[in-house]
Amino acid sequence: GIGRPGAPEWRGAMGGRTVAVLGPGGVGGLVAALLARDGNDVVVLGREQTTHVIAARGLTVRSAQLGDLHADVDARPTLDRPVDLCVVAVKATALPDALDRAPRDVLGDGLVVPLLNGTEHMDVLRERYDPAQVAAGVIRVEAARTAPGRIVHSSPFVQVDLASTTAPRTRLDDATTALTSAGVQARVLDDEARALWDKLAFLAPFALLTTRYRAPIGEVRTTHRDELIALVHEVAAISRAAGGTGDAATALARYEQFPADARSSMQRDAEAGNPLELDAIGGAVLRAAERYHLDALHTRTLVSALS
Ligand SMILES: NC(=O)c1ccc[n+]([C@@H]2O[C@H](COP(=O)([O-])OP(=O)(O)OC[C@H]3O[C@@H](n4cnc5c(N)ncnc54)[C@H](OP(=O)(O)O)[C@@H]3O)[C@@H](O)[C@H]2O)c1
Repeated sequence: GIGRPGAPEWRGAMGGRTVAVLGPGGVGGLVAALLARDGNDVVVLGREQTTHVIAARGLTVRSAQLGDLHADVDARPTLDRPVDLCVVAVKATALPDALDRAPRDVLGDGLVVPLLNGTEHMDVLRERYDPAQVAAGVIRVEAARTAPGRIVHSSPFVQVDLASTTAPRTRLDDATTALTSAGVQARVLDDEARALWDKLAFLAPFALLTTRYRAPIGEVRTTHRDELIALVHEVAAISRAAGGTGDAATALARYEQFPADARSSMQRDAEAGNPLELDAIGGAVLRAAERYHLDALHTRTLVSALS
């Protein structure tokens, strides 16, 4: 399944691993196509209708950064063989059902790397699989599934951070090598809680406010400015208690730099009538606040309004 070798970030086939990607959406489809292009043996796991289409037509990615690419991959509803790496890229709302497609006894000792937003999926994965084979993944990208097997990658970057309190460092290094070779900017971080919470603390205010007010960041920044600032500080304090950096000033400065029309994926899900990752994002912040006895008034108000 080799695509277009001329794309800018592609350094050449360092692949040769067996990889399963569970959930061939924006994130999963992009990662699967990149890993297949790099010479890995990729099997995509997903719902019956979707994997049927992907098995017949492959994955097609339109990417300004990486070039358009096409990859023929194996696709099936359930894993049928052990793999070196299993990337989990479903939405949090689909996670428990989706994991039935990658049974522990079939997967073998492959490294399981979720790319979901949130933090609490790590416990779910460590209950299902041997903790020594589970590592946190944090992805920074904008990618959308426009049809089964069709992905539009719109950000000028794909970055993945890996970290784990339970899997050996050598396994994370190997996954990083595979991702880097495939054209993903990947690195291993020392602190799993920090990696997960820094992403969540940045994402949660953006997701909650844009979805609540059905407005892009530009309008949130102006019309709802006081609430934005208060919420960012509230979530930063909670994330700091949970192991994150808790840097409100940096988060606010980054929001200022977003294009005014930037919308969150939670907002797009709301507009499309899809289930929201509200519990994995807002709910996780509330539960951490409770754990550390911290104020979460702004988060709670938004989560209630969106529930
Ligand atoms: N997209 C981004 O730019 C981005 C960036 C950073 C982080 N994230 C995070 O990455 C995660 C994935 O997001 P996404 O945007 O890639 O979602 P998505 O485009 O909606 O893709 C989810 C995929 O999961 C599949 N799926 C749903 N239920 C399933 C089930 N029971 N079994 C197997 N597969 C199932 C869907 O299948 P169908 O194709 O059949 O619908 C779809 O292909 C989320 O936690 C999100 O917050 C996303």
